[in-house]
Amino acid sequence: MDSFRYPVEEIREKCDLVEIVSAYVALRKRGKTFIGLCPFHNEKTPSFNVNPDRQWWKCFGCGEGGDVFDFVQKIDNASFPEAVERLAQKCGVKIDRSEKGAREYSERERILRANNVASAFFRSAMMRSQAAKDYLVKRGLTDSSIEKYRLGYAPDSWDQLMEHLAKERVSQADAVRAGLIVPRENSQGFYDRFRSRLIFPILDTSERVIAFGGRAMGDVEPKYLNSPESPLFAKNKTLYGLNFARHAVSKEDRLIVVEGYMDAIAAQEAGFEHTVATMGTALTTEHVSVISRFTKNVVLAFDADSAGMNAALRSAPIFEQAGFSVRIMSMPKGEDPDSMLRGGDVSRFAALIEQAQPIPDYRIGLALAKHDLSTDTGKVEALNEAVVVLAEVDGAMDRERLIRELARYHPNFGTGMTLAEDQIRGDMSRIRSRSTRRHSRGAALEDKAPAAREDKPLSLVQKSERLLLGIIIFRGAEASKVFERLPPKEFTDESAQILAELLGRQSAQTGKIDQETLRAEAAGTPAESLLNDLLFGLDESELNHPVEQIMAVIENHKKNEKRQRMRELSRKINEGSIKRGDEEYEEYYRLARETSSPWRR
Ligand code: GTP
Ligand code: MN
Repeated sequence: MDSFRYPVEEIREKCDLVEIVSAYVALRKRGKTFIGLCPFHNEKTPSFNVNPDRQWWKCFGCGEGGDVFDFVQKIDNASFPEAVERLAQKCGVKIDRSEKGAREYSERERILRANNVASAFFRSAMMRSQAAKDYLVKRGLTDSSIEKYRLGYAPDSWDQLMEHLAKERVSQADAVRAGLIVPRENSQGFYDRFRSRLIFPILDTSERVIAFGGRAMGDVEPKYLNSPESPLFAKNKTLYGLNFARHAVSKEDRLIVVEGYMDAIAAQEAGFEHTVATMGTALTTEHVSVISRFTKNVVLAFDADSAGMNAALRSAPIFEQAGFSVRIMSMPKGEDPDSMLRGGDVSRFAALIEQAQPIPDYRIGLALAKHDLSTDTGKVEALNEAVVVLAEVDGAMDRERLIRELARYHPNFGTGMTLAEDQIRGDMSRIRSRSTRRHSRGAALEDKAPAAREDKPLSLVQKSERLLLGIIIFRGAEASKVFERLPPKEFTDESAQILAELLGRQSAQTGKIDQETLRAEAAGTPAESLLNDLLFGLDESELNHPVEQIMAVIENHKKNEKRQRMRELSRKINEGSIKRGDEEYEEYYRLARETSSPWRR
């Protein structure tokens, strides 16, 4: 062993560092060197340099550097002999082992060999099985895709692979470690893990078979079965299809992430070669850091079921925290990329990829989709939900953009876009200041706040009435004029009625509004907490709003409410379920009198 020498210099001579590195990092030529995003730390701007003349690499961001052997050792987590062996094979350098004798292969190399033997076995089993071939045709897979993805078939047998591995002198220990055979639970011996399944070999970026995924051919559970973790296969780092995607990604500078094997294959075959699959597992920071070697832009194209949407919402922030630009595609109901693309919807898929949205836009879209936007109640409910998302958006520019879009769904959009925007902005600011207050003061004080107020969203009329009162308090706006048209007893809540009463009286007596007096008067009444909300919770932008427009909104809504109530009562009268003398009968005629002589402007 001691006398054995690896032909290190010969390998160094024959291997091109740029080519080796390019298998992992998208490199661009800049002057005499090549640059790219460092695979060893997270970065947005390239500081990873490869010098082809000196066959030396160096990252000016994290300080790592070295020769081709250092690179392979570090990136593949390999020992020095492993790196040498791998590079020797790649560059066609023969290693003379005569002096070394029976060399010990590393466990990783032995598992790799077991996988290679198994992969060849699955491929020939595929050729022999009509059922497997039929299934592939049914799934729209052609001969060339079978070739490209090295698809195979695990026969319906407990030991065919095991026998084959034995014949090829793969030890049982290695076959177990590779996850190809499984020890029996209650007796001696082993059995094949993959039986009667379509086989997807999982390749790493060096095109080595590191694991397998097996799809049941019928309605068998589990639908998919993967190899267990091994020294070669770390689930949280592996992305299916990356061996192909990595070539395309440097041109596109973005990656499409899908959920399943079939989705990745369908997308790559349809021309979206820059696609990888997460293989159903949760996306991890390790996945993200692997991807960050190639690009910082991803589009998540997950299934249109709730599992898919939740996975997208969980994964997207992981990308964002690593400095990625991440967008989420809205998949048509009931579809996944495979079903869409096999259905021939290639241009639609392409369009949906282009229309993929940033996280908040996507979340707001989900909130809006839950409600009936053709009614005012639906709109208000949708907005109440959307505003909560809006409040969590960090960038002020993003918030403003979203407020403009949301205003379209506001019942007041017709009355005046700015009013709709201001109200959305106000609601959002309140939620934001509430959550910062909660963070800064801690939970103890928050307990004292009346919980009911936070839970029950206010109706549009209630909001408008409050805004009106706030404007009177802060701008001393013509209280008498307002209350002439909208008498205090017509306000929706008791608290607003009382506050309006107090404001009207003060303004009539003194001609202005004094906040201290007001607080003293409201103390101990149901108006106290409303007054505090208005004094401390209103947004500046809301207070500048024209009183006339807010009045119009309130009057309009009240009119609509009355009309609706009258329709309901008149239906009851016609049905005969209420009669002259009943309370509701009187109500109907009171409303009829009021609407025939409405409070004119
Ligand atoms: P097809 O029905 O073959 O089109 O599969 P799909 O890709 O549409 O399946 P699905 O959306 O249900 O799952 C997406 C991915 O999650 C699959 O490709 C698998 O990688 C993984 N997956 C699905 N079901 C299972 C399972 O039962 N066990 C495991 N380990 N993984 C699964
Ligand atoms: Mn599918």
